Amino acid sequence: MCEGKKIILGITGGIAAYKSAELTREFVKKGAQVTVIMTKNATKFITPLTLQTLSGNPVYTDTFSLTGEWEIGHISMAEAADIIVIAPATANIIGKIASGIADDLLSTTVMATRAPVLICPAMNTNMYANIIVRANCEKLASIGYYIMDADYGELACKTEGAGRLPPLDDIAEEVASILTEKDLAGENVLITAGPTREPFDPIRFISNYSSGKMGYAFAVMAKRRGADVTLITGPTVLPVPSGVKVHEVTTAVSMRDEVMKHFKESTIIIKVAAVADYRPAVLSDSKIKKDDGPFNITLERNPDIIAEIGKIKGDRILVGFAMETEDLLKNAYDKLLAKNMDLIVANDLSRPGSGFQYDTNSVRVIDRSGTVRKLPLMTKTKIADRVLDRIKKLRKDSKETGVV
Ligand code: PMT
Repeated sequence: MCEGKKIILGITGGIAAYKSAELTREFVKKGAQVTVIMTKNATKFITPLTLQTLSGNPVYTDTFSLTGEWEIGHISMAEAADIIVIAPATANIIGKIASGIADDLLSTTVMATRAPVLICPAMNTNMYANIIVRANCEKLASIGYYIMDADYGELACKTEGAGRLPPLDDIAEEVASILTEKDLAGENVLITAGPTREPFDPIRFISNYSSGKMGYAFAVMAKRRGADVTLITGPTVLPVPSGVKVHEVTTAVSMRDEVMKHFKESTIIIKVAAVADYRPAVLSDSKIKKDDGPFNITLERNPDIIAEIGKIKGDRILVGFAMETEDLLKNAYDKLLAKNMDLIVANDLSRPGSGFQYDTNSVRVIDRSGTVRKLPLMTKTKIADRVLDRIKKLRKDSKETGVV
């Protein structure tokens, strides 16, 4: 989402200014062209040289030291920017922008831009709570500026409260979201992710290797594209994606119940979870003791969630995944037909870097006509984005023909 985008990073004078170095690296890593503008006070907390080295571009600090050429240049930079991010943003810069004051390079550039402006506040907790700062933030939000909430925690002044710079990952996600077209607005996307765990005593269970990465990538991308996203997840160690409603479950039965709770309002259902087909028939109340002989567990069938949904889906778009070790395309397509899916995404396990746990995947996307589209090895985020493109196309076709 940030690839090739022109980001102006405005840094103002607060202790959190040091974090903007990491933020610059993050944007550059994502392929953005970053130009840094620092206020005079910001240069007391972190040197322009650091930001210049990390961004690979000159850092601009003071309007009055600029040549006439650059003074005109900064207006064209403001016009060319895809987004201006101010992190950290002090009460001072927030107040200036809210009052239309343009008395240094950063505030002038903000006044001259038509690009979205994202403000990431960081200041003392009392300042952040101050009624004037609150009113300024509300005013800016009401006229189209993007304002993040400051984070809660220990502040540089040793007090605890709201006022910390929002986490850098959240800022990066907000930027990606602002830069993404909201082409899934109005859709309610229900996603399942991760493994299920099927216990047979209080401390042991049967499960699989799913990390949740593929399903969470769908949640992040669908949210970025403007959908209302509900994520039902088995146990993972992944951070909760921002702006997504997350419901944690453990077993296939609890996943089924949660899916059914949210089924009605959903318009698109993407079943990425690796659901255990079987569960132990008996759950012991206490730890099962070992003895010298073999140990047998009798298994019974779990509900087939996607098959149940397929029967009642109506005009919802239903997407499943297939994990097969042989006859991938045939088995996947048979599953699609048998369970009334609209698309099935088959993991190509023959490609190293595909399937469980990796950050990448390589898949074939099969539709109801049997047409197969191959997506080569790419990040799970990109796979999710491409599959969402296919879903969007299905939605467009169904609107035109009335057939799902
Ligand atoms: O989580 P990661 O580490 O990123 O790995 C991603 C993944 C490999 C888990 C993912 O890409 C994937 O393939 N998920 C589905 C794996 C699977 O369970 O495949 P299946 O062929 O057994 O099931 C087919 C479909 O039926 C799936 O959409 C599954 O969610 C659904 N299903 C399966 C069993 C069941 N009882 N109920 C279901 O709804």
